[in-house]
Parts: sequence; C-alpha cells; structure tokens
Amino acid sequence: MQAPDKVAVLGAGIMGNGIAQLAAMAGMTAVARDVSAEALRRAGDAIDTSLARFVKAGKLSAHDAAAARGRVTLTADLAEATDGASVVIEAVTEVLDVKQQVLGEAVELAPEHALLGTNTSQLSITTIAAGLGEHASRLVGVHFFNPPVMMRLVEVIAGLQTRPSEIERARAFGEALGKQVVVCRKDSPGFITSRAYAILRLECVKMLEEGIATAEDIDTALKLGFNFPMGPLELGDMNGLDTYVHAIEGLADAHGDRFRPTVGLRNMVAAGRLGRKSGAGFYEYEPR
Ligand SMILES: NC(=O)c1ccc[n+]([C@@H]2O[C@H](COP(=O)([O-])OP(=O)(O)OC[C@H]3O[C@@H](n4cnc5c(N)ncnc54)[C@H](O)[C@@H]3O)[C@@H](O)[C@H]2O)c1
Repeated sequence: MQAPDKVAVLGAGIMGNGIAQLAAMAGMTAVARDVSAEALRRAGDAIDTSLARFVKAGKLSAHDAAAARGRVTLTADLAEATDGASVVIEAVTEVLDVKQQVLGEAVELAPEHALLGTNTSQLSITTIAAGLGEHASRLVGVHFFNPPVMMRLVEVIAGLQTRPSEIERARAFGEALGKQVVVCRKDSPGFITSRAYAILRLECVKMLEEGIATAEDIDTALKLGFNFPMGPLELGDMNGLDTYVHAIEGLADAHGDRFRPTVGLRNMVAAGRLGRKSGAGFYEYEPR
C-alpha cells in the first residue's frame, strides 16, 4: 500500500489525537473529528504540547514540528473528515453502539476503497463489523497503544469476515507510521496483548494477596527481571482498577475462570480503591 495521503480519525480523545499526530509526523494529512468541541480544543492543545516536547528533546526540528501541525485538522464535521480519505480509523468511546453508529455514518461518506480500522481495545471486531452490513468485510482492528506517538507496537486484528487484503493494508499502514505490526489472526477477546498482560497482572495480584511479597517487590522483580518499564501493579493503579476488573471479567467470560478477578480485587473496586485517580490502589498516593 502506498503511504496514504489523508487519514480520517474518528474521535479526538486521548487516542484519536495521538493517532492524528502520528500520521502527520509520518507526512500524511490527518483530520480528527469529534462531536465534542471541548475534546477538539483539548486535542489541539495535546498535539501542540507533544510536538513541543519532541522539539525540546531534539527529536524533531521546529520546522518539521510546525509542518506536522499544519497537516492536522480538527473538525466536528464528519463529511469533511472522511472526504477523500484513504484510511479511516475509529477511536471513539469504547461502547459498541457508538462505534457502530460512527462507523456506519463514516462508511457512507468515505471513499469505497478507504481502509476501515477500529482502535477498540476490548470489543469484538466481528461484532462491530456486524453493524456495517455490506461493508463488514472491510473492517479491521488497528490497535494502537497509549501514547500512540511513543509506543512502537500496532496490533492488527482480523474479524471473522475481514478480507485478507484489508489485514495487509492495515499492516502496511502501521509500518508507514513507523510501527512494528503484529497480527492477531482470529478475533478473540483481549487479542494478543491484553490477554497475555491481564493474566500476568492477575498472577501478581494473587501473589500480593497470598503475602508472597510486597507490591513494591513484585513490581521491582518484574521491572528488573524482565526489563518492563513499569510494574504490573503500579501500571494497574495508573490505568484504574475498575477498568481492569471490567476487562478481566470480559476475558473470564470468553476464556474461562483463570481470568476471574479475585475477591480482594473486587472488594478494592467496591470500596472505591481504584488506583491513582482515587488516591489509593495497590499503593497510596498524595491527593491531587
Ligand atoms: N486510552 C488508552 O490507553 C487506549 C489504548 C488503546 C485503545 N484505546 C481505545 O481507543 C478508543 C478511544 O479511547 P480514548 O482513551 O481515546 O477515549 P477518550 O474518551 O479520550 O476519547 C473518546 C472520544 O470519542 C468522542 N466521541 C464519542 N462519541 C462520538 C461520536 N459519536 N462521534 C465522534 N466522536 C465521539 C468523545 O467525545 C471523546 O473525545 C476506545 O475504543 C479505547 O478502548 C484506548
């Protein structure tokens, strides 16, 4: 696939603005569309801040940063975003109906040949595609990691109906963005990354609950033993334990009880001990 000229990103939240910035930094034109004016404003600020950081770190010249910023448009207009786009990436809220609705509207407006990707982290590609009627075979999972401009991986996921050609186009798109691409060949909850990491963290939680080691020592063991930048428990606190419990409940339904949250973990969430955002999780935090 030739490097796409124009990428439409649907949803300009944390992931959407990052994907738009990434595309612009790779020389593409990016249009991020959101229904929220506030989200669009925040997206512009986030991109400015991130580009300034690249310049400060000497990774990008001021000229190239300004050029990249000039290739990003933020809009509330779906037709403007999708018009002439060769790639459409959906990055709206993780709710099936919302994703199906947004993709359903986009598919009517975007060119017939546009690559159609969803950045869902948890939902079934096949189920999202089921809302797209005759376009179902075009949808492919294109899973970026947070923050998209920094993380080196893109996980491409084949839905049950996804055409093989779209998997290859998604791979080429990820590579054109400078990413390493892996392909999850069967749409399966948790794909490759979330499934593997969820159970690793759960094992850490179980060791903590069994009194085998402190949270600090478990995290340190994994960081220094396996070169992880963060420990699974501290990262769980950062992302929110409610989000984690919700995710592993879904994985347990799909893959069995080995993913079932422990009673201790459920109690933490019930008690509002959600991690950094609530001031306490596996660790205690200073109030923000
Ligand atoms: N945050 C992460 O670490 C991460 C990592 C990988 C994948 N994801 C996935 O990426 C997607 C987006 O997540 P996020 O963290 O950027 O969420 P977010 O809440 O920051 O952004 C979602 C955006 O979608 C917008 N939106 C809602 N309905 C819309 C509509 N009808 N049309 C257009 N925009 C609409 C919201 O206004 C919001 O700005 C989700 O599917 C999520 O699971 C998130």
